[in-house]
Amino acid sequence: MNKVDLHRMVGLLSSDSFTSGEELASHFGVSRAAIAKQLKVLQDSGLEIFSVNRRGYKLKEAVELYDQAKLNKSLSDPSTDLLDILFITDSTNDYIKENANTLGDGFVCIAEAQRQGRGRQGREWFSPFGASIYLSMKWGFPLGFQSLSGLSLAVGVCASRVISKWVEEEVTLKWPNDIYIAGKKAAGVLIEVSGNSDGSCDAIIGIGVNLHMPDTNDIDQPWTDLAKHTPGAISKNLVVAALINELRVALTEFSHNGLATFMEEWQEQDHFKDQNITLILGKNQVTGVARGISTSGALLVDIEDEGKTVRKEFFGGEISVRGA
Ligand code: BTN
Repeated sequence: MNKVDLHRMVGLLSSDSFTSGEELASHFGVSRAAIAKQLKVLQDSGLEIFSVNRRGYKLKEAVELYDQAKLNKSLSDPSTDLLDILFITDSTNDYIKENANTLGDGFVCIAEAQRQGRGRQGREWFSPFGASIYLSMKWGFPLGFQSLSGLSLAVGVCASRVISKWVEEEVTLKWPNDIYIAGKKAAGVLIEVSGNSDGSCDAIIGIGVNLHMPDTNDIDQPWTDLAKHTPGAISKNLVVAALINELRVALTEFSHNGLATFMEEWQEQDHFKDQNITLILGKNQVTGVARGISTSGALLVDIEDEGKTVRKEFFGGEISVRGA
């Protein structure tokens, strides 16, 4: 059994002064080698740790960890069987998938870091320790796949509502569900669905929100985080609790009325409305003018076809615009 409680270790390393390897070893009752191994686990997960000869270790910057007591104060439903707080995991979406049979609607899992965070279109989602929110929620849909159309857009609206409470600049949505602040991506949504034999299906709604990211070359598009757009400090516990509360209300609403009540907000925040775009569809692409969304959440694009403008609906694909 691992005797080094990593949560506690991060707590010790958060001190303003250095903590030596010897002190850490004696605190946890393990060897220096065991401490070195666990420090490497933390560093590999993206936690930046200063190490100075003869003085020891400390965090480069303080990290706010998830705190059950703080969360409980802000969650509308703090039932412990609706929330798991993980430390480092492969992917919070995978955690829900592995446990789906035992979890109720609105169950949520959050983690400090992901080893194999996943984004849309098979991309990796950069998930360094403590720098962002990594959250997945389970929600069941008794009427099956056909009742899900527009779900990802509704979730995008929901994330944007929460982010807008913290930032001063304009928050916009890139179809289907990327959240932008001041023109750069700040959050993304990955929804995975599995069908059940009775015709119902379960959705795993994964959301990543950049809070206070380290400098990185690991992201292949312009990105930003909440800290760059908020004058004061941001509490990860407060933002995540607001997101969980908003999601549970929004998913209840979506289960009853579908996309209808989210349409207007989505259209108001449409990042590419009336702009020339290229939509990448696997190996193919189409170019036209983005005209918002249909009632089922499809992207509407005006395309020139033999001198005529034809409006087409797209349910999949990736918008590409130079610089976006
Ligand atoms: C995207 O914009 O490409 C979607 C990003 C989704 C990332 C989140 S983080 C929590 C959940 N777990 C994952 O592995 N991915 C989603």
